[in-house]
Amino acid sequence: MRLIMFGPPGAGKGTQSKMLTQRYEIPQVSTGDILRGAVKKGTAVGLEAKSYMDRGALVPDEVVVRIIEDRLQEADCQKGYILDGFPRTVVQAEALSRALGRLGKEIDAVINLEIRDEELWKRLTGRRVCSHCGQEHNLFFKPPQREGVCDCCGAALFHREDDQEEAIRNRLVAYKKQTEPLIQYYRERGKLMTVNGEKEISQVFDEIWAALERMSRQ
Ligand code: AP5
Repeated sequence: MRLIMFGPPGAGKGTQSKMLTQRYEIPQVSTGDILRGAVKKGTAVGLEAKSYMDRGALVPDEVVVRIIEDRLQEADCQKGYILDGFPRTVVQAEALSRALGRLGKEIDAVINLEIRDEELWKRLTGRRVCSHCGQEHNLFFKPPQREGVCDCCGAALFHREDDQEEAIRNRLVAYKKQTEPLIQYYRERGKLMTVNGEKEISQVFDEIWAALERMSRQ
């Protein structure tokens, strides 16, 4: 199974991808996580990506495409994968299609998570991430028991640089201008499945699962 998890920042792509990896036993391939890992390690790619990411702009296509082409060749991707946050531009979608075409493969489905701006604004401004275990909390929906401290491991929580208001505004502009056109791109190719991303996490998952089941019976 080769899936694309699609939607604006905060739509729940990462959350739902993690849940699907358990059902399908295939990896989640998140360009955001790979890039954040590179920033943390201080690699050349990380240093280049950081300035774009911190202000909420997209990292250049050639950087991201190279990362994905390398990652998809790894052994754990041979049975399939869930792409989380890639592709984000038509150039990236075309590069993915060419790379898969060379292997005689294609994407099975694109799950488009729909959500209103006011809802994702709360999810992103309220998100606090544990600096040690990565557990996410949210000041609006799931506040930590002690302010600034992770409920799971007791380490300090931090506010992602790109979850600051100005960066969120830029991420939304980038999404609408550069990424949203992919909805039409994948609709024309008969791959798009749209799901309401505003419901409870488990309800969103059930809807995705039902849509994928319907697809597999066709
Ligand atoms: P990336 O890490 O991909 O960030 P994003 O997509 O902008 O945003 P999120 O990861 O926050 O959103 P999500 O949809 O995964 O939601 P999540 O499940 O986390 O990218 C970061 C940056 O890297 C980009 O801005 C860009 O600079 C660069 N980049 C990455 N990929 C790139 C590419 N292909 N090309 C160029 N540049 C690239 O959920 C968000 C919050 O909401 C969480 O706290 C979660 O717990 C909560 N939540 C989730 N679902 C629900 C629900 N149903 N109800 C209530 N809360 C929920």
